[in-house]
Amino acid sequence: GTTRFYEFKVQTMRVTKLCKTKEIVTVNGMFPGPTVYAQEDDRIIVRVTNDSPYNATIHWHGVRQRLTCWADGPSYITQCPIQTGQTYTYEFTMFQQKGTFFWHAHISWLRATVHGAIIVYPKTGVPYPFPNPYEEHVLIFGEYWLKNIVQLEKEVVASGGASPPANAFIINGRPGPRYNCSKTDVFKIDVVPGKTYLLRLISASMNMEHFFAIAGHKLTIVEADAEYTKAFTVDRLMIAPGQTINVLVKADQQIDRYDMALGPYMSAQNVSFQNISSIAHFQYTGAILDSLSLPAQLPVYNDSLVVNTNLHMLRSLNATNLPLDIDTNLFFTIGLNVDQCHSSNPNKSCQGPSGGVFAASMNNVSFVKPNISLLEAYYDRIHGYFTDDFPGVPLKTYDFVNGAPNNIPNDTQSLNGTKVHVLEYGSRVQLILQDTGTVTTENHPIHLHGYSFYVVGYGTGNYNPMTAKLNLVDPPYMNTIGVPVGGWAAIRFIADNPGVWFMHCHFDVHLTWGLSMAFIVKNGNGPLETLPHPPADLPRC
Ligand code: C2O
Repeated sequence: GTTRFYEFKVQTMRVTKLCKTKEIVTVNGMFPGPTVYAQEDDRIIVRVTNDSPYNATIHWHGVRQRLTCWADGPSYITQCPIQTGQTYTYEFTMFQQKGTFFWHAHISWLRATVHGAIIVYPKTGVPYPFPNPYEEHVLIFGEYWLKNIVQLEKEVVASGGASPPANAFIINGRPGPRYNCSKTDVFKIDVVPGKTYLLRLISASMNMEHFFAIAGHKLTIVEADAEYTKAFTVDRLMIAPGQTINVLVKADQQIDRYDMALGPYMSAQNVSFQNISSIAHFQYTGAILDSLSLPAQLPVYNDSLVVNTNLHMLRSLNATNLPLDIDTNLFFTIGLNVDQCHSSNPNKSCQGPSGGVFAASMNNVSFVKPNISLLEAYYDRIHGYFTDDFPGVPLKTYDFVNGAPNNIPNDTQSLNGTKVHVLEYGSRVQLILQDTGTVTTENHPIHLHGYSFYVVGYGTGNYNPMTAKLNLVDPPYMNTIGVPVGGWAAIRFIADNPGVWFMHCHFDVHLTWGLSMAFIVKNGNGPLETLPHPPADLPRC
């Protein structure tokens, strides 16, 4: 492959949106940031210089980082922050990977504005498994706050309560005409009648899963999380933060202007939010310029039926390497809980439900970030920063029936800790993710670094191995799964990429509350199964 070199300067920039001018953090003075282009198997080198006043790291979301764990990017997991004035060069290959990815800051809540697309084309001469589109466009979905995002995070942490909703949803940084002062802050695609377009949808949203639809047009899904899927045509789809979905759209309607609408999908009952969609335009050449745009039909915000259809329609085009048998069977609960306000959280003003503070955990362990990176501590055998006793089943288990608890733990207190779960090289893993929680069950898009995984099953309610139906034929190969609210998902992968790999909810507020853990995957015996030394410029704490 070729080597692609990029220079990223993380810096602040003044933008005016929603009637207000403020400073945001971006890369190279663009919002969204620059797109990284490559072909399968290419080497990508990105020199990141931090010219912003905040600590920064960049994560290459969906890139498996085969034997390059040092370039993954999550702060305090595989590296310490790039401090103001410092530079770190990320180097990795798109080894056997192509499709739509994205990069984003992986520290604090900077991802809100520090994000951009990664587009990896097939090797020269290798066609798409569908007719070539006339044109391709990227749509990055996000959420925008008027408040300084680092300040907002501090306030939410200090309050112990929920995060205020975003002031706007955005498509490629633009809120669209339904928001104040945004009549012209609209992203637009010009289309030629009769042509077919490939839209690369990326959700960089912070705390919201979304519905997306285009008025009068069908969406044919052909790729999810940078893996081809069997073509499936829908009127609207759900996309969770951390997911990418490619759709083909045929401009087969009358010459006019059509809304591309991004609305909320959420389950939580008592959260106040503005139910306004972000609108972009799908506009035919020849349409009357000032014509009204035709509105799109989105499901109601808590329509979980559409979500299940969404999971159902994602099928791998080729499910190679799907582990049919497994040797490591894990069961993780994921969920929110409320800790009582007591001496262990003296810095919080206890504005969570019933005077408590929100916490989130996996298997009842609420993750605490270490002071150096886990990878460094593991690689250099520095003791005292983590323990390897992250439980394979919930800490607070009740009666087990056939390998799964028949009574999902419903505790009020989780344990704080920096715990990892160690996997032997080559382990064939099945992991059940079970949504639970005492306050409420909630949306949780769970993302695993370093791997894609087959989503072999999902369902509502508690996982029951006796009745759960698994798809071992053509399950989708994802890196982020929106676990059904109050339900479960079963994922499978072969642990053949050594390193320290973060797994977490891709809602930043849940991540802040501790909804994460890390796997250590040990080295194998061969030279191509061993993690190399850290690069010389790796930021240290
Ligand atoms: Cu897209 Cu750990 O992140």
